[in-house]
Amino acid sequence: MQLRPLLSLLLLLFFTTATTTTAHNVTRMLAAHPEFSSFNHYLTTTHLASEINSRTTITVLAIDNAAMSELLSKHLSIYSLKNILSLHVLLDYFGAKKLHQITNGTALAATMFQATGTAPGSSGFVNITDLKGGKVGFGAENNGGSLDALFVKSLEEKPYNISVIQISKVLTSDVAEAPTPGPSELNITGIMSAHGCKQFADALLANAEAAKTYEDSVQGGLTVFCPLDDAFKAFYPKYKNFTVANKTAFLEFLAVPVYQSLAMLKSNNGLMNTLATDGARKFDFTVQNEGEEVTLKTKINTVKITGTLIDEQPVAIYTTDKVLLPNELFKAAPTPAPAPAPEEAADSPKPAKKGHKGAPVPDSDADSPADAPEDDAADQTADDNAGVKVGGARFLAMGLSLCLGVLLL
Ligand SMILES: *[C@@H]1O[C@H](CO)[C@@H](O)[C@H](O)[C@H]1NC(C)=O
Ligand SMILES: *[C@@H]1O[C@H](CO)[C@@H](O)[C@H](O)[C@H]1NC(C)=O
Ligand SMILES: *[C@@H]1O[C@H](CO)[C@@H](O)[C@H](O)[C@H]1NC(C)=O
Ligand SMILES: *[C@@H]1O[C@H](CO)[C@@H](O)[C@H](O)[C@H]1NC(C)=O
Ligand SMILES: *[C@@H]1O[C@H](CO)[C@@H](O)[C@H](O)[C@H]1NC(C)=O
Ligand SMILES: *[C@@H]1O[C@H](CO)[C@@H](O)[C@H](O)[C@H]1NC(C)=O
Ligand SMILES: *[C@@H]1O[C@H](CO)[C@@H](O)[C@H](O)[C@H]1NC(C)=O
Repeated sequence: MQLRPLLSLLLLLFFTTATTTTAHNVTRMLAAHPEFSSFNHYLTTTHLASEINSRTTITVLAIDNAAMSELLSKHLSIYSLKNILSLHVLLDYFGAKKLHQITNGTALAATMFQATGTAPGSSGFVNITDLKGGKVGFGAENNGGSLDALFVKSLEEKPYNISVIQISKVLTSDVAEAPTPGPSELNITGIMSAHGCKQFADALLANAEAAKTYEDSVQGGLTVFCPLDDAFKAFYPKYKNFTVANKTAFLEFLAVPVYQSLAMLKSNNGLMNTLATDGARKFDFTVQNEGEEVTLKTKINTVKITGTLIDEQPVAIYTTDKVLLPNELFKAAPTPAPAPAPEEAADSPKPAKKGHKGAPVPDSDADSPADAPEDDAADQTADDNAGVKVGGARFLAMGLSLCLGVLLL
């Protein structure tokens, strides 16, 4: 357990320095070795491949098709399978040479299973030990000291970005194989409440229809973008004024009906439908990288992802610095409202204009202030909708670190 604070720090550094685009593609690297096609397939199915591609200084312990079929014969759920495979991704670089020259002949390596934050104690570590006769043994740390998986050969090495090596058999771990709580048993409002999104979770709990939509989506994949408490608190007076139907649409707008890891969000920029999308009522937003950060934008405002509360396929929950505002509820009305100061857009909801198809419509009042609670003109970007102010996230790095810190410690 003493390892955890140190590890958390290392992971923080790791996460904050992880690059968006790296030179390697593990799927392609393994494709050159057909005897690993099954392992390769499951790296893709579990979305671990994109996580691996988004990182450097990493080692993949690959197992061949025969060893994989033994693992698959256990008929584990995809979630348990992901845990086990993530135990085969070391967060350090071990080429063949380094493996045979480990200081003091033994080392513990943190794995991607550890990085999920779900591995208790030292169960996310792999013991690597130089054995007699030039052999190198591997074993999950909580596996009673057994080191019966042996280094076979090096498949691909790109020092010090990624090393893909073959080991003789699957690293067994009761913890990783344990049935993970089915996604339907996940208490997503509980997770949000405990990690800085209580206001949003409470709003969701108070709205039976939206809460049910979220619940029904969990099994098939769900990604939630919950505003941090300060942001949602500032927005709450406007939210409170919504009609029930608009509250529901708004809550459903902040989640998408597919699982998206952060790496996937970074590599799949573009328009995204939400739980609120219903035919002509688009309620969509655009995902876009801004450097190392992922932003979500509508014509009304732009918010940044500041942290990860959970990322376990099929559910991911991220925090955002501000409340993302849907075009459908905040688009200014054709006739100028009798504007009581900066609150006019939500005061008297007006018919949404269906102007968001194709090119943006330069509304007469397109320059009415966006309704984000934390507008920051300093960070204004050239938006596709002239004049709309885009708020800035002043504390992304801090938020991310805090958030990860909270989760890992
Ligand atoms: C990685 O390589 C595979 C196979 O060549 C390809 O299908 C996939 O799109 C690549 N991924 C990225 C992110 O380039
Ligand atoms: C190697 O062993 C020595 C003596 O036991 C110890 O002082 C040192 O910290 C060890 N090095 C590593 C990297 O574990
Ligand atoms: C790795 O496992 C071996 C065998 O159980 C043990 O002797 C060694 O101390 C372990 N290494 C570390 C760094 O814990
Ligand atoms: C390692 O990755 C960086 C980019 O992240 C790239 O510039 C470099 O060429 C890579 N090194 C190797 C050996 O592939
Ligand atoms: C989920 O968590 C919330 C807050 O911790 C709690 O009030 C609620 O009872 C939990 N729901 C379930 C179904 O466990
Ligand atoms: C909410 O509606 C009430 C009554 O119509 C109004 O007085 C108040 O200003 C509105 N608040 C906001 C934040 O729009
Ligand atoms: C929701 O808000 C829109 C736009 O502000 C408004 O036109 C519509 O009447 C509201 N819907 C309901 C059901 O109140």
